[in-house]
Amino acid sequence: MLRTKTCGELRKVDVGQSVTVCGWVDSRRDHGGLVFIDLRDRYGKVQVVFNPAVTADAALHELAGTLRSEWVLQVTGTVVARSDKDVNAKIPTGEIDVAATTLVVLNRCPTPPFEPGTTDLPNEELRLKYRYLDLRRPRLQELMQFRHRFSKLVRDYFDGQEFLEIETPMLGRSTPEGARDYLVPSRVHQGTFYALPQSPQLYKQILMVAGYDRYFQIARCFRDEDLRADRQPEFTQIDVEMAFVEQEDILRMIDGLVAHLMKHIRGVDHPLPLPRLTYREAMEKYGSDKPDLRFGMELHDLSTLVANSGFSVFKETVASGNKVRGLCAPQAAAKYSRKAIDELTNFVKDFKAKGLAFFRVTETGLDSPIAKFFTPEDQAAIIAEFGAKAGDLIFCVADSYKVCSAALGALRSRLGKELELYDPLEMHFSWVLDFPLFQWNEEEKKWDAEHHPFCQPMPEDVQYFDSDPSRIRATSYDMVVNGYEGASGSVRIHDPALQQKIFDLVGLPMAEAESRFGFLLDALRFGAPPHAGIALGLDRWVMLFTGCDNIRDVIAFPKTQKASDQLTGAPAEVEPRQLRDLAIQFNLPK
Ligand code: AMO
Ligand code: AMP
Repeated sequence: MLRTKTCGELRKVDVGQSVTVCGWVDSRRDHGGLVFIDLRDRYGKVQVVFNPAVTADAALHELAGTLRSEWVLQVTGTVVARSDKDVNAKIPTGEIDVAATTLVVLNRCPTPPFEPGTTDLPNEELRLKYRYLDLRRPRLQELMQFRHRFSKLVRDYFDGQEFLEIETPMLGRSTPEGARDYLVPSRVHQGTFYALPQSPQLYKQILMVAGYDRYFQIARCFRDEDLRADRQPEFTQIDVEMAFVEQEDILRMIDGLVAHLMKHIRGVDHPLPLPRLTYREAMEKYGSDKPDLRFGMELHDLSTLVANSGFSVFKETVASGNKVRGLCAPQAAAKYSRKAIDELTNFVKDFKAKGLAFFRVTETGLDSPIAKFFTPEDQAAIIAEFGAKAGDLIFCVADSYKVCSAALGALRSRLGKELELYDPLEMHFSWVLDFPLFQWNEEEKKWDAEHHPFCQPMPEDVQYFDSDPSRIRATSYDMVVNGYEGASGSVRIHDPALQQKIFDLVGLPMAEAESRFGFLLDALRFGAPPHAGIALGLDRWVMLFTGCDNIRDVIAFPKTQKASDQLTGAPAEVEPRQLRDLAIQFNLPK
């Protein structure tokens, strides 16, 4: 070993010991002959002093004078106590120094494009390009350690519940999660492709048929879709499947996981069962199927109330069968200027709203450019509907139920954050249940599976198959964590006849279903047990537990919004020979 101690572990009790430490030069100060180095490793930082009064080795001091940021050193010296006035209570090693007697420069480093020790970070593109420098930063080291610990806690929990972790292939067939596949051409079978898994969905169902009734896997998934702050093309799921169970069993099993995580990470006994709400309730009250429940600010329907008001936009909207819905932001009237409200209006337009009506609540009624269209009685009724107080700010959107939900749901999240209505480190978990099984695809004039086509319909809703598929609820469940979709799953169909009915409805001809998922349909015919499962987005959970708002911060080597890897330059062109092997030819437009 090149070291006897790590930089972060030295304390006052070590004073007098001779130690050898290794690490990177975090910072360097030269005080005329005295050179101070902060030496950093994964465990922390320690101050190394080159003092001619301690060692009269001229070569040592000369070398010390040449050290630069991010050089790699091996230093041997004696741990010495700092004088009282030099103690730095802010860092764990702040009571001691290492007085150097020997210095070996293990490696040099050109002037880095940014210093890992700095708090003044450059743009993310540069950080991703030099990710190895970025990953040296204490914050990222902390996040990587947390992620490791998190995965370990997950494995411990499932292991304790008799689950087996079974790996499933990366090179497989296209899965039906709904995103575009990443394809891998086959050399041996030219003209054919593997698909990287969007999830292990089909394999885990087959494992149930094969009798492995409690499966989990920390699994890599690949989806070629539009990226956002909470989405990566390559991400990690905690994938779970159980046989001989019902929805309730899955919910309880995952409730238990949440309690286990909260106990070991936050040291608290999280109350169980976790709260549950239906999809309808979520849309009604929060305008979203993944509401942030760390705060209230529920949506209200004002349609009846404003149906006969003098404001024609509202009146006509209601007359045409659409809705006027709104929310009341507590004590926000003074915080949002006219300009800030214009900005919010633009924001809701991204969600297809045509406008954003607003009212400042005063002691005497409503204050707004459109207040004149509302009688004092109407104004009092609006205030009463929200239980609003003077100083509050009411926002309304008049549109279809769907647009009102999307616009107000997004506005609610934004206002909750801006008005600091919650503690950003609080964790809130809840289940959203009773999702619709199908959604109408207006473009293609057909029904699509809302989740994936292997979800079991609720038995009592099967009667609507022919009359009104929109009424069929799925036996499916999402876990919402702080306004993010943290997990999603369902009870699966284990009856091949019912599976075929679903394929028919979503317009997947049996021949195509057979050719794409024939192996699954076969497996279902060979004695499939009732089964159900779920998958949690591990990256998202780590992001939320650590208070990050960017999924890239919790992934060692993430991709950019444009799905490229700044560090390696992937995706990249390949050798013509490689393409010849695969019999691939490009005909790219010039
Ligand atoms: P689903 O597609 O909902 O379900 O994915 C499960 C969970 O994975 C996370 N997630 C993502 N995280 C980061 N980047 C992405 N691009 C991304 N996409 C999804 C989310 C999501 O809730 N096979 C089913 C699960 C099942 O039915 O058992 C599935 O994959 O947190
Ligand atoms: P206008 O009549 O277009 O001048 O709009 C008057 C106010 O009503 C403005 O604040 C608009 O943002 C708002 N508004 C217009 N259309 C809608 C709508 N569909 N829903 C909510 N507010 C609207």
